[in-house]
Amino acid sequence: MKPRSSFGQRTLGREYFTSPDLFAAERKRIFQASWLLVGHVSQLDVAGRYFVFDLDADSVIVLRDDAGGIRAFHNHCRHRGSRLCQAAAGELGASIRCPYHAWNYALDGSLRSAPAMADVAGFDARDWPLHAVAVEVWRGFVFINLAHTPPPFERALPGLAGRFAHRDTSALRAVHREVYDIAANWKLVFHNFSECYHCPGVHPQLNRLTPFRNSENDLDDGAVLGGPMWMTDPEGSMTIGGARCAAPLAGLSAEERGRVYYYTVFPSAFVSFHPDYVLLHRAEALALDHTRVTCEWYFHPDALAMPGFDAQPAIAFWDLTNRQDWMLCENTQRGVGSSAWEPGPYSELESQLAAFDREYLRVMAGDAPARQLRG
Ligand code: FES
Ligand SMILES: [Fe+2]
Repeated sequence: MKPRSSFGQRTLGREYFTSPDLFAAERKRIFQASWLLVGHVSQLDVAGRYFVFDLDADSVIVLRDDAGGIRAFHNHCRHRGSRLCQAAAGELGASIRCPYHAWNYALDGSLRSAPAMADVAGFDARDWPLHAVAVEVWRGFVFINLAHTPPPFERALPGLAGRFAHRDTSALRAVHREVYDIAANWKLVFHNFSECYHCPGVHPQLNRLTPFRNSENDLDDGAVLGGPMWMTDPEGSMTIGGARCAAPLAGLSAEERGRVYYYTVFPSAFVSFHPDYVLLHRAEALALDHTRVTCEWYFHPDALAMPGFDAQPAIAFWDLTNRQDWMLCENTQRGVGSSAWEPGPYSELESQLAAFDREYLRVMAGDAPARQLRG
């Protein structure tokens, strides 16, 4: 687990954080073509429950169907294009009914009925199902891909395939969600999450629990990057006060119970495995200098059922840390726009940023699939 050296590598140039043209290119090459983490199965616990995920002009309905499967469809009617679901989440019942002329779709996307269309020559409801979107569920986390022919999930995110098998996060439930709007480019938010070089000065609370050099990388190349940090108190967790909020999650070794494992999942999320809970940051690049991060704290239902269970120490700890981080990202966004700024050198503590940049540039250059096929 030797971190790949970033010796000699510098940060990305100013244009990567300030150019509308590059931002537009990222939409096509990255966001409209990558597997994006959009939610968790616990949000879709019964048939007909759904949430909506928006990306630019596209809106996607993610739902649970009658057979218990997770499906995703473009959120527009095949008749004249009306949006189908307006609310961000909710219950559809047994079907999706268009609010315009009441075409009615089953939860598998097929068109079930279309009033007054029976006499239209050549009309066959079977020809007009909702447009499906590729969807994958990994350990309970739901990913979608808007590409017409997306790369297979395991090839696109080989860092996830086959790993973390003992961490079944499907049963977990979010106890809290916090949404942050950050005035910074999405890559600065990824960069910030990928190093603890800034921790001693900026996160005194975090640095007390996991001193910044207590880290190693077990994934240091590709779309999934990260690794563990070990805690000063191997019986503790990342909370205000440092005590666990719940018993350790099942299946963890003694070593794993004393560590926090942080991973970035290009280009949409950070997943952090704590001994007693899982923290999810979902990042959405809404504009060149606007990133929305949705942060959720996931615990096991057994912990939630314990008398006196209180997630507040975990929530407060990460809310504090998040806000400290977003300030840094916003400051950096302001700085890199300067006409005099030029790329700076990465330290050895920033090898994961260098790896992120390499992956980013590979995807932008369009050679990521070839690399994945070789891998
Ligand atoms: S637009 Fe949906 S039924 Fe007409
Ligand atoms: Fe930080």
